[in-house]
Amino acid sequence: MKFDLQASFTFSGDITAIKKEIERCVSTLNENVLKKDDDHKAKIERAAIEGNKLCLSIYSEGVFRPHNALLQIKNFFVKELGLKHHVGVRGVTVDHYSIVFDLEKEPLHPVSIPFAEVKTQGKQVTMSLSEVSDEFLQKNYIDRMINRLKEKVENQYYEGKAEFWKLIWESDEIKPVWSSDPTEEMVKLDWLKQGPTKGKWFYRPQAAAVLKTMEKIAIEEVLKPLGFQEVIESHIKPFDIWLKTGHMEGMPGEFYYVVEPKTRDPKDWEHFVDLTKITKEVNIAELTKNLSPPSAGICYAQCPMIYWSFKGKTIAERSLPVLVYDKTAVSCRYESGGRHGIERVDEFHRIEPVYIGTREQLLILREKLLERYKFVFNDIFELEWRMAWVTPWYMQQAGKFGESKEQDTGTIDFEAYMPYRGTRKDSEWLEFQNLSILGDKYIQAFTIKAQKSELWSGCSGIGLERWAIAFLAQKGLNPEHWPKGFRKYLDKLPEGIQFL
Ligand code: SER
Ligand code: ZN
Repeated sequence: MKFDLQASFTFSGDITAIKKEIERCVSTLNENVLKKDDDHKAKIERAAIEGNKLCLSIYSEGVFRPHNALLQIKNFFVKELGLKHHVGVRGVTVDHYSIVFDLEKEPLHPVSIPFAEVKTQGKQVTMSLSEVSDEFLQKNYIDRMINRLKEKVENQYYEGKAEFWKLIWESDEIKPVWSSDPTEEMVKLDWLKQGPTKGKWFYRPQAAAVLKTMEKIAIEEVLKPLGFQEVIESHIKPFDIWLKTGHMEGMPGEFYYVVEPKTRDPKDWEHFVDLTKITKEVNIAELTKNLSPPSAGICYAQCPMIYWSFKGKTIAERSLPVLVYDKTAVSCRYESGGRHGIERVDEFHRIEPVYIGTREQLLILREKLLERYKFVFNDIFELEWRMAWVTPWYMQQAGKFGESKEQDTGTIDFEAYMPYRGTRKDSEWLEFQNLSILGDKYIQAFTIKAQKSELWSGCSGIGLERWAIAFLAQKGLNPEHWPKGFRKYLDKLPEGIQFL
């Protein structure tokens, strides 16, 4: 990498007369202060004096970034010139900063980035910044800009490519009871009602009973036997949690945002109330005047807030592994084109178990969870399903692709055959659950500690709609055709309500 920085130092007085002294300082800076070793050096390549101004060109190719040298240069001038020549440094400004680096691959399309003009030639990138503030330099924006640019080019190569997917296990083929789309049939039977807004559903007693049975089975057959304890979290996630987990940069286009009223003083709302009473309509422009900008969003996944609840805590060894789950927060994801039935929705119900413990504890837990899940899907649901390693969800949710580097960490997807979609081979199977071990990613992000142990964490998403649709798509809507194991939990559906 090549860094070329043009900075001007403004002194308290004219420095033309002490040109020699300045030149001596520049030599000393180059020989000592800016040269720690061969890899770790920057060089002032040019120094020009204009009255009380000293303009420097600082160049480096190594890990020592010129902008990190500015403070040292300033301090050096203060020390050397202050006592002897009674001049101080009033200010330092960066006039221009150009950074040249090589990418691994040539960009496929032009790339841009905030705060800089970007030019590429083959694999070489030149990032030019002008009028850079101190704050900008101190906040490490430069490194993040370089990383972001590299990431954007890398992503260009993934666009449109199939995601990583590696089969782990598959069940035997099981003859489905039918091949209809369960949602459509449930709507016809009035078990379900679509809406009231996009991608949301109203579950009437029969469909609600199926979802609640899924919840019960997950708790009784998977979570309780393994010692998971229930927690209840808030639905509303402030942005700082998503900044830490990476969701904020990963999927800002998929959140349902939450806004608070600016005020609850009836006087401030009087006009809006008058309008509503008179027009019987919602005057959005008037309403917006009384709303704050968004500062949070509705739950997207439950684990981020569970990690947040452990933020800065030291967990006692005896509490490891921590095994908790939330089944209260309802998740919302803004789907654009992909909505379908109750399996691809904007609002869904999920139980999310989260586990925190040592690497060994979590690897053992993964085996136990897999064993319990297999019992549910094979012996209770009698499903045709399979498991595959996929791109870890946190990478997907941070807009990244590919597989996790280590074997111990990563995400397993559970997929079920959907007879209504076509043949086993050619149709898309439904991802109805996932299970992940994520190493220390969130442990670090939320500074979670143990007395002695190094912690890892992971989570598993048990989507109730997904469980229900995987089951119903293969087993139909008639309880008489349902497997015995399932009928132990739900033998008869509620009567529901008859409509005329
Ligand atoms: N957090 C995981 C996900 O978002 C599991 O729910 O998929
Ligand atoms: Zn999670």
